[in-house]
Amino acid sequence: MRKQLSLVCFLAVAQLLFAQKKPITTPVYKDAKAAINTRIADLLQRMTLEEKAGQLNQLNGGVFTGPAVNDAGQMGKVQMVREGKIGSFLNVTGVKETRNIQKVAIEESRLGIPILFAFDVIHGYKTIFPIPLAEACSWDLPQIEINSGIAAKEAAAAGLHWTFAPMCDISNDPRWGRVMEGAGEDTYYGSLVAAARVKGLQGNLDDVSHILSSVKHFAAYGAVEAGREYNNVDVSRTALWNKYLPPYKAAVDAGAATVMNSFNVVDGVPASASHFLVEEVLKKKWGFKGLVVSDWGSFGEIIPHGYAVDEKDAAYKAISAGSMMDMESKVLVKYLPQLVKEGKLTMKQVDDAVSRVLYFKFKLGLFDDPYRFSDEARETATLFSAANRAEALKAARSSIVLLKNQNNILPLKKTSRIALVGYYAKSKEDMFDFWIANGSANDAVSVQEGLQARFGKGSVDYTPGYKADASTDDRLVSDAVASASNADVVIAVVGISGKLAGEERSLANINIAEGQVRLLKALQQTGKPIIVLVNSGRPMVLTQIQDLAGAIVQCWILGTETGNAVTDILTGAYNPSGKTVMSFPYAVGQIPVYYNHFNTNRPAPETGDGAWKSRYRDIPNNPLYPFGYGLSYTTFDYSGLQLSNAQMDKNGKVTVSVSVKNSGSYDGEEVVQLYIRDITASVVRPVKELKGFRKIWLKAGDSETVSFVLSGKDLSFYDGDGNVKLEPGKFKIFVGGDSKNTLEVPFELK
Ligand code: NOJ
Repeated sequence: MRKQLSLVCFLAVAQLLFAQKKPITTPVYKDAKAAINTRIADLLQRMTLEEKAGQLNQLNGGVFTGPAVNDAGQMGKVQMVREGKIGSFLNVTGVKETRNIQKVAIEESRLGIPILFAFDVIHGYKTIFPIPLAEACSWDLPQIEINSGIAAKEAAAAGLHWTFAPMCDISNDPRWGRVMEGAGEDTYYGSLVAAARVKGLQGNLDDVSHILSSVKHFAAYGAVEAGREYNNVDVSRTALWNKYLPPYKAAVDAGAATVMNSFNVVDGVPASASHFLVEEVLKKKWGFKGLVVSDWGSFGEIIPHGYAVDEKDAAYKAISAGSMMDMESKVLVKYLPQLVKEGKLTMKQVDDAVSRVLYFKFKLGLFDDPYRFSDEARETATLFSAANRAEALKAARSSIVLLKNQNNILPLKKTSRIALVGYYAKSKEDMFDFWIANGSANDAVSVQEGLQARFGKGSVDYTPGYKADASTDDRLVSDAVASASNADVVIAVVGISGKLAGEERSLANINIAEGQVRLLKALQQTGKPIIVLVNSGRPMVLTQIQDLAGAIVQCWILGTETGNAVTDILTGAYNPSGKTVMSFPYAVGQIPVYYNHFNTNRPAPETGDGAWKSRYRDIPNNPLYPFGYGLSYTTFDYSGLQLSNAQMDKNGKVTVSVSVKNSGSYDGEEVVQLYIRDITASVVRPVKELKGFRKIWLKAGDSETVSFVLSGKDLSFYDGDGNVKLEPGKFKIFVGGDSKNTLEVPFELK
């Protein structure tokens, strides 16, 4: 018995010792203390080819198709998660929903690889900020970064890890509905805005307040012909390098985690399959280490472009070009394993793509805590908080651009009796655009509500004036006229529905609708001062209404705080400081019209005889309002533009200074803009190029000397192969309050 007992003891001890010596059962990829690269390598060697293809597969769920887990229609996708065939979802939002799916991935799939949840959080998640185009008109980079930071914070609190923003496409075409998503027509400014947005969205990616950003649409999608969505692009290499690529590069340099392919072709090759764009420019030249995701279906759409014969060929071409994750065309999940087995693609190519997906899952801490972004209490506390709304109000005020203010009819007097006219002044749905993430129009403050809150209900008489489709009739017009007759001032909101801003919202006609013009003409007959507010996600042609209003305020699409921001502007509680970042065309036929064009062989004179010059016979060459333009309730005078030296060598620096005086009677802000022109170069350069700006605040009567330092970098450009050129020669330097009205001095690079 004793012998038996000691044998049992011996065996138990031996077992214990043996157990201690046994290798740790937790796989390395699950070891939070191991380095990310070690974890990725460990995981890759455990994955089947099918599981690797699964990580590159991003599918739509949720928002457009109903709850992902509970809806029977989604059951197929849940089963795919179980089988490791989905690496990422887009459009599944909210803590509850994302958590449900994550649970399946973690607990029921073989390797328990977490899912990345992505969504188009374009200008806010629940607290909706001004559309990006409007926000850019603030010229306030710190505020822009804050706005993106709040969008990220709310999205991250709602279970999301990734947004498809910022859009860095430079565009000269307001017919394109997506100009609302960018930062306008200027490459230099667009680059700064892109970087600010990336920083705001991502932070250092080491907390639960930030999310991955995706720079899009790579590349040159803003050049779609005639502003038609999904249309072709045909740009020269010099335009690509100098005009279109820099903002994407700035975003990548700011640390953007992911880049989205564009739908269009570049140089005859669909961007998703462009080895030149993805491998050569993005990865090799710019050193991008992040993830490249297709646009919706863009891998599959390589076929209709005429560049791949079938889905398998499309999958092959996308991966060969260096693209990685497939949003919704499902060609990788179907064909990638086969392509590797047939030796067409190498395991190295696949592993490179998959490891970049895994990297961000590790980086966000999802392997160690898959539900890090899924905290209901945080979701409730963060979304639509008072602090977030306060920032949205600041952002909205500084986005508004005052285009006209004849006889200083603005700001309004406190005692004004207002005739508020216009369907869009009340209809919250029309004040919201297409990209509103989880925002709700009902949560927004309308122009009517904003004005009533400040002036009292009895002082704001509302009539619609036109219908939802902007048409009108005799009754609507006469009601508005009657209201105007009893008021001190008319505020008329015109433009287009916010719902016509965004993807797949191209318009050939961007004139103010006939019904609205008719309404304004009738209102003008009352002799009352007329203030027009333009509600639109793009610059519209305002030429027909230019003389029908004493004041014109471009309000864009301002989001949650619309009514409060507009009221602050109209009352002068906030002095307008926005300057447009897109030219307002004089007529649709003038498009594309932009300030940084080339001079042409036959430039038309500003005034006088334009015969046989580059001109229109029926309209001016100049836009109605140029890039950089915007009024304040005060005025600014520029004088004494000077250079520290009139010549500089390639490694030198020159200081440009100018005196700016607030010559009016209100304190206010001014965006002081510096432009250059390279007179002669080996690649023709624009007549003006923005190279610096300062937003300054000046008390009425005060002056300030504003200085800029220029170096070789500011005077250089790219040749068609993407080489930086800095060429000696003559330049001009301009400083002013917009791109048209500037002081100028000559300058020479030795
Ligand atoms: C297509 C759009 O072009 C892109 O910008 C967007 O991010 C994706 N759809 C996902 O919704």
